[in-house]
Amino acid sequence: MLIRYRKNYEKIAMGLLSFMPTEKDLKKLQQTIKHYETNENWQLFLWKEEDDIIGIIGILLGDGQTAEIQHISVNPSHRHQGIGKQMVKELKELYPNYELKANEFTASFLDKCEL
Ligand SMILES: CC(C)(COP(=O)(O)OP(=O)(O)OC[C@H]1O[C@@H](n2cnc3c(N)ncnc32)[C@H](O)[C@@H]1OP(=O)(O)O)[C@@H](O)C(=O)NCCC(=O)NCCS
Repeated sequence: MLIRYRKNYEKIAMGLLSFMPTEKDLKKLQQTIKHYETNENWQLFLWKEEDDIIGIIGILLGDGQTAEIQHISVNPSHRHQGIGKQMVKELKELYPNYELKANEFTASFLDKCEL
């Protein structure tokens, strides 16, 4: 189930985001989480199963009802079980009037999902 990011999930969110190749630098990662906390166009969601947070997906809402998926990551112990694709599916349900798009850093996986 996708849940909305809140400040008390900051540590787990940063851990999950750090699996993205673009978020290896701590300063960059801190900037990224700050954008999600302060910019209303940046929306971050976590994937919760039972009591565990095991995935993350973040979008940038743009003009013209587009939502660019900037970050997507799943805890390595839970990969290859369809969670990545399920997060994309639930995100589409949350933003039915938006066109979901990949960016250059998320395209290789998102090309395998239905956007
Ligand atoms: C990409 C990621 C979120 C997929 O999560 P997942 O829950 O394992 O995804 P699913 O189980 O829904 O789909 C798995 C399929 O996606 C494909 N896949 C996984 N990572 C991929 C990648 N970086 N590029 C292209 N395809 C990828 C594989 O074909 C895989 O199939 P398999 O299980 O038969 O090997 C996860 O691998 C991850 O967190 N990677 C590190 C963060 C990252 O690089 N994100 C950007 C990806 S472009």
